[in-house]
Amino acid sequence: IFGEERKNSLGMDISDSIAVSQFANDIREFSEKKWQVGPIIDGESFLDSAEFTEVVNPAHLENVIGEVSSATSAHALNALEIAHSAFTKWQNVSAEERAKCLEKAADLLEERMKELIYILIVEAGKILSDAIAEVREAIDFLRYYAMIAKNELNDWKKLSGPTGEDNFIFFEGRGVFLCISPWNFPLAIFIGQVSAALAAGNAVLAKPAEQTPIIAYEAVKILHEAGIPKNVLHLIPGDGWYLGKTLVPDNRISGVAFTGSTQTAQIINRMLASRDGPIVPLIAETGGLNAMIVDSSALLEQVTKDVLISAFRSGGQRCSALRVLFIQEDIAEKQVKMICNAAQELKIGDPIQLSTDIGPIIDKASIDMLTKHTEKISRDEDSNLLFKVPMDTNSYNGYFFPPYIYEIQKISQLKQEVFGPILHIIRFNKSQLNEVISDINNTGYGLTFSLQSRVQSQIALISKKISVGNVYINRNQIGAAVGTQPFGGRGLSGTGPKAGGPNYLQRFSIEKVVSVNT
Ligand code: NAD
Ligand code: ALA
Repeated sequence: IFGEERKNSLGMDISDSIAVSQFANDIREFSEKKWQVGPIIDGESFLDSAEFTEVVNPAHLENVIGEVSSATSAHALNALEIAHSAFTKWQNVSAEERAKCLEKAADLLEERMKELIYILIVEAGKILSDAIAEVREAIDFLRYYAMIAKNELNDWKKLSGPTGEDNFIFFEGRGVFLCISPWNFPLAIFIGQVSAALAAGNAVLAKPAEQTPIIAYEAVKILHEAGIPKNVLHLIPGDGWYLGKTLVPDNRISGVAFTGSTQTAQIINRMLASRDGPIVPLIAETGGLNAMIVDSSALLEQVTKDVLISAFRSGGQRCSALRVLFIQEDIAEKQVKMICNAAQELKIGDPIQLSTDIGPIIDKASIDMLTKHTEKISRDEDSNLLFKVPMDTNSYNGYFFPPYIYEIQKISQLKQEVFGPILHIIRFNKSQLNEVISDINNTGYGLTFSLQSRVQSQIALISKKISVGNVYINRNQIGAAVGTQPFGGRGLSGTGPKAGGPNYLQRFSIEKVVSVNT
């Protein structure tokens, strides 16, 4: 499926508990390290000690893991000027050569896996298995996009035409791409966006999330080491609003790749729309109000496992995570009980401990948002708290928040994505199935959806009617694999491109047709 030339990342076998414990021990060798990071412009790091702010481990607020010096608008505009001048040369480098840099970067990521995994744990609060999966995903993006660039972007393709005329079509880079990424996949999505833009022949300004500058800094260093010219790729860490308003309106930006919240995508969309210059694409991959429907033919144990993974894995801090679970009335009592009983086993704690299922929430603002949601929903007459995973708050000096399970009546009680470990359950009667599907579609979001049913006709019908980017049947709905489950949503969930899919690089490219009178 991945294509003959592509090999999957090595990763590690997490079922080998001895090797995993050894690995978890080994990565502690980085625990004394303090990172100092900042903008990387034309290969030079700008580390202004007067401007440093602390980067804190979200699971141990007393643990300062490093410092970041944010980019000023002068840094950003300087990087833009250099990238703009460097673009044409990079555009003319063959896709084959560009792909080689990505392949080399993949090898380097594999070599430096331990440090990258450690950073993901202490900077982004990832549990070990999530951190391993994330580095593998970043590697997979690099190798997959290298393969697609070689196969799809390298050649001029001949078109049919009249005698005496040759017609060709080919893809070119667009110019300077601004790649803006979120904290929840601070390596995989960061690398995915940047490598796609580079593979397609663009220069790149990479703007990581405020919460995760260290992993982005390491990623850019690796990409440069792998051969991406220093004047083609620049890192501009810092405040999104400030850097966004500096760069997005600038006509030298030829495209924006954004992954993050729907609200921020809408702001960027408005900024792009009010430019006077060239009309450029926004590739937006945003949030979801993702649902699962469980009908009475579903296997209860399978559902229990898939619900827990979908709703609570990574502390629910995945765009793909399950937010609203619809269970058919006939089995609801038993199914809900099984889910709540199983949730009781979830261990909240330090993500570096192998026993931990749920690590920290990323920051105080997220804790406040989640707390506000639970307070609001608790006041709502149409909702009922079914279960809350016990958590001893005194044992943690970090941003921890326990999983909650609520029963609600209508999905419309949720106005937007709630980004964390909160699951909402709705019971429905068989006769209400069409209404349930309309209600899900009417949220306007369209990212992931899962159906648990053993009735083939139901599977075919619902898969067709549901308006989302990724449909999963009788399995969990997270962890899309590069090249296997190209990932991305529609409507409020994004503009529709599929990261890790065969047509993603083309979104970063522009087509040209040459007609030759022979
Ligand atoms: P966010 O929107 O707050 O921030 C994302 C990025 O945008 C950050 O780098 C931030 O600095 C930047 N930013 C903020 N304001 C900006 C502005 N005015 N102009 C330009 N850039 C600006 O999102 P987040 O909290 O970092 O990430 C979580 C969100 O990302 C969730 O909504 C989640 O669903 C979504 N997400 C979507 C996908 C997907 O593939 N669809 C994947 C991961 C995360
Ligand atoms: N691609 C990630 C997932 O599927 C966000 O969970």
